[in-house]
Amino acid sequence: MASPLEVRNIHKQFPLKDGGVHDVLVDVNFTAEAGEFVSLIGPSGCGKTTMLRIVHGLETPTRGEIICNSVKVEKPDHRRGLVFQHFNLFPWRTVLDNIGYGLEVRGDDKKSRIDRARVMIELVGLEGFGNHYPHEISGGMQQRVGIARALALDPEVLLMDEPFGALDAITRERLQRDISSILERQPKTTLFVTHNMDEAIYFSDRILVFGTRPGRIIEEVKVPLARPRQADTIRASREFTEIREHLWILLSKEMQREDA
Ligand SMILES: Nc1ncnc2c1ncn2[C@@H]1O[C@H](COP(=O)(O)OP(=O)(O)OP(=O)(O)O)[C@@H](O)[C@H]1O
Ligand SMILES: [Mg+2]
Repeated sequence: MASPLEVRNIHKQFPLKDGGVHDVLVDVNFTAEAGEFVSLIGPSGCGKTTMLRIVHGLETPTRGEIICNSVKVEKPDHRRGLVFQHFNLFPWRTVLDNIGYGLEVRGDDKKSRIDRARVMIELVGLEGFGNHYPHEISGGMQQRVGIARALALDPEVLLMDEPFGALDAITRERLQRDISSILERQPKTTLFVTHNMDEAIYFSDRILVFGTRPGRIIEEVKVPLARPRQADTIRASREFTEIREHLWILLSKEMQREDA
């Protein structure tokens, strides 16, 4: 059976102001299997966000293609849900209507939109806040709305770009645990961008380590830690420490190469 997500020979160039081109991604190839959690980690500017935008269909690759369950990605659609770092909620829509936005675009009727949004509100722990506006809830709660909005469409692939990046440490940990338990209950093929090694190990089945100039995969690191994972206990385990050390060496070498 085909993988839910196939990234084939992706090259991406952006034009430079002087008329030249900037090779942002070169020869990126990977797949994600059903229910697999794959993280993209790498130095700033190595093309992680660009990669995710290409998978979503927001950006067109210069060469190569993205195949989502045997269908070539040409533009964004409900098969892939995207969660941004900066929530990207509509300030004039309530929590319920923000969560229902993608369903509305898809053409679902009002009653089924509301029913589905209510289920999502419960899933992400926002009971009682459906009629609040984004400015009336905290950053952590806004990101729960962003996640609920992406999951409402039951996407075949979930894409998250530093979803905890704008949150304080405590909120971040709490939301990490909640997302982890949601995904344990309802496994989703997920691509996750982060700068945080601990977060990548905690969530992932596999980590794709990107290098920069040009952006490319330098190594694929498997995370064979048993699930369900308890954040406190796995961080203390020998396997976790070894993977972390390995990632640290890879990323430090990449930074040194970049500085040279
Ligand atoms: N629309 C664009 N036009 C021109 N250059 C772009 C565009 N989008 C991204 N770039 C360039 O592509 C490179 C990769 O950017 P990208 O945002 O994908 O990196 P990133 O790995 O997500 O970085 P960070 O970790 O800082 O979020 C950068 O050099 C950036 O300046
Ligand atoms: Mg980015």
